[in-house]
Order: sequence, then C-alpha cells, then structure tokens
Amino acid sequence: MHVILEGILTTLNDDGSPHLAPMGPRVEDQMRRLVLRPFRSSGTYRNLSETGQGIFHVTDDVEMIARAAVHRLSEIPPFKAATAVQGVILSDACRWYAFRVSKRTETEPRASFECNVVDQGRLRDFCGFNRAKHAVLEAAILATRIQILPAAEIYNELSRLRVVVDKTAGKQERQAFAFLEHYVRELAPQTT
Ligand SMILES: Cc1cc2nc3c(=O)[nH]c(=O)nc-3n(C[C@H](O)[C@H](O)[C@H](O)COP(=O)(O)O)c2cc1C
Repeated sequence: MHVILEGILTTLNDDGSPHLAPMGPRVEDQMRRLVLRPFRSSGTYRNLSETGQGIFHVTDDVEMIARAAVHRLSEIPPFKAATAVQGVILSDACRWYAFRVSKRTETEPRASFECNVVDQGRLRDFCGFNRAKHAVLEAAILATRIQILPAAEIYNELSRLRVVVDKTAGKQERQAFAFLEHYVRELAPQTT
C-alpha cells in the first residue's frame, strides 16, 4: 500500500551547506523506497538532480515544517553528518531515511525521483495525532501556493483551519499557525 508521507527532506547545496524543505514522498509500508516529486523550480529538485542523494525525516515539529516551507527558518536546526550518504540528519526528527536516487523522470511541473533507502534511524517517539498539527500542515501548503491560488480561497481555508487550531493546539502549533497567517497577510494582503 502506498501513502504520501509528509516530512522534511535534507539535501546538500552546491557549497555543501544543508538545505531543508518539506516534501511528501510516496512511500510503502516497509519504507524501502521513496518516490519524491519536487517541482522543477525548487531548490530540492536542483540538489537532488546534482547529488542523487538525501535524507527524508519524519517529524511532528510543524513549526519547522511551516518555516522551512516558506524559506523563513531563522537558522538550520541542529544536525549531524550522515554516514551512508552525503547529507545531514536533523537531531530532533522522529525517524530518518537516507536514500540514493535510482531513477529520475523529467515530467512537468514536477519531476519524479525514485529512491532506495540505504540507511535509517529512530531518534524519538512521534507525538501522535493532533488536529492542530494537521491544520498547520494544510496551512503551510497553502502558504507555498500564494502565487497560484486566489487570495480569497486561502483566507477562507485559513479561517476554517483556525477553528481547529483554537480548539486543539499547543504552543508550537499556535506559534506556527500565527506565523503562517502573518506570512500570508504580508504576501497576499486581503483586499476586502
Ligand atoms: C507538508 C508539505 C508537503 C510538501 N510536499 C511537496 C512536494 O512533494 N513537492 C514539492 O515540490 N513541494 C512540496 N511542498 C512545498 C515545498 O516545501 C516548498 O515549495 C518549498 O519552498 C520548496 O523549497 P525549495 O525550493 O528550497 O526546495 C510541500 C510543502 C509542505 C508544507
């Protein structure tokens, strides 16, 4: 069975510095293979094309996901160097999967990278289901689509998601959602 699993991908830039981006690869239960589908305009696409390797992280840190999605991380979170591939493992992730690309298909607007997992690790428990975390993920995806979706649609969705956040969020989710609302207001001001 295949699902899309949302997480954080690290790759290396040209100069060897780490690059982070939320990505949702298609995975199967055993997590032996991932299929990544980055937009061809993305930094992740560029890095994967050049290096053919990276590390996919499962995390419940939705604030990191929200900030990384819109390139507003104040700094790269703590990490250590991987051994099986050239790349970095985020220290606060729940699980990580180091992979090598086995096949690349240049479709538009997203390319497809089939990847084999060559190493993996578990660092801490996943927090479990929380509706506010899922709401932040949805809001983060909306924030990355500011250029393509009508502003009214984004604001409608955000106000629906805010209800869930108000009911179920902890501090991290509240902060992450407020950050995304602020980001959207800045880049797509409401006209009415
Ligand atoms: C939960 C989540 C999943 C995402 N999945 C993908 C994906 O599969 N492919 C993609 O191109 N962008 C995806 N995005 C959007 C990218 O993270 C976003 O465009 C980011 O700015 C890309 O950064 P980069 O250009 O530095 O690689 C996702 C965003 C979120 C919040």
